Amino acid sequence: MSENIRFDGRVAVVTGAGGGLGKIYALMLAARGAKVVVNDLGCAPDGSGGTTNFADQVVEEIKSAGGEAVADYNGVHTKEGAEGLIKTALDAFGKVDIVINNAGILRDRSFMKMTDDDWKAVIDVHLHGTYNVTKAVWPHLRENQYGRVVFTTSSAGLYGNFGQANYSAAKLGIVGLMNTLKLEGEKYNIKVNTIAPFAGSRLTATVLPQDVLEKLKPEYVAPIVIYMCWEGCQETGRVFVAGAGYFSRAAIVEGPGVYFNLNEEITPEKVAEKLNEIKTVEGAVEFNNATEATMKAFKNLGS
Ligand code: NAI
Repeated sequence: MSENIRFDGRVAVVTGAGGGLGKIYALMLAARGAKVVVNDLGCAPDGSGGTTNFADQVVEEIKSAGGEAVADYNGVHTKEGAEGLIKTALDAFGKVDIVINNAGILRDRSFMKMTDDDWKAVIDVHLHGTYNVTKAVWPHLRENQYGRVVFTTSSAGLYGNFGQANYSAAKLGIVGLMNTLKLEGEKYNIKVNTIAPFAGSRLTATVLPQDVLEKLKPEYVAPIVIYMCWEGCQETGRVFVAGAGYFSRAAIVEGPGVYFNLNEEITPEKVAEKLNEIKTVEGAVEFNNATEATMKAFKNLGS
């Protein structure tokens, strides 16, 4: 089969690429011609410690397959780390075209037991990490009038998951960041999309049975992430779900709603009476930006 989705001449930065999903993204991009910066702090699943081995092994694998890659060991949870990562890319390859924000940790605990440190550590790596790296590279992408940026969310953020209040907040915050960057990147040909993956990795090793983990290959997620990195990808502001050979799109939608007569008093009782109509998402629509959403409500004001 011919491979027309190629990255020759493109430079990709993949965070947390020393293992799990990020490793497969890095290998696949390199196999399709990209020069890859393999970033990984090499920490434990809870964010503690650090080693250069994670990133080094993936760089070695890419090079032995004939590809081009450099390792970067910065932590994306700090501004300096993210700036150092983008500097690694520019020093090695002179530019950046593609950024996959994938690095992640977990500190699962019920909200009652969650410490401030558990909260902060997870927000720092996921939400601030995504911000730090994207902020460091954004002026460069704008100047080049080109960028393919991928963020990583989770079903925990989209729908909630017991014991993951910190992670859920961070992961949905990332979707909010995408919603605005898709608009700000539009005229510079910067596309920003988000993956919600399901994959067997050390992060899911404690919550899923071994036989299921083995079947949830990161290779089943990577194809749509690679598509999002491609210059032919014209999608932006999308959340794609992938795992176990399943692919779909998740979206924030708003139901048709109810317009009350503004000439009459609007009481909590009237709201209660209409609640079924207010809450239905049957016939829901998506909005491209906040103005579109506001205009739908403002229709009730007349002209
Ligand atoms: P993983 O633990 O195998 O990979 C994450 C990598 O990020 C690790 O190699 C780790 O060393 C690195 N890392 C952690 N903190 C870092 C930092 N501050 N700076 C740089 N590197 C850092 O886990 P996996 O499953 O491959 O996760 C990848 C992403 O996908 C994460 O954002 C995770 O939250 C997300 N995700 C994964 C799901 C799954 O089913 N595996 C489900 C939903 C989301």
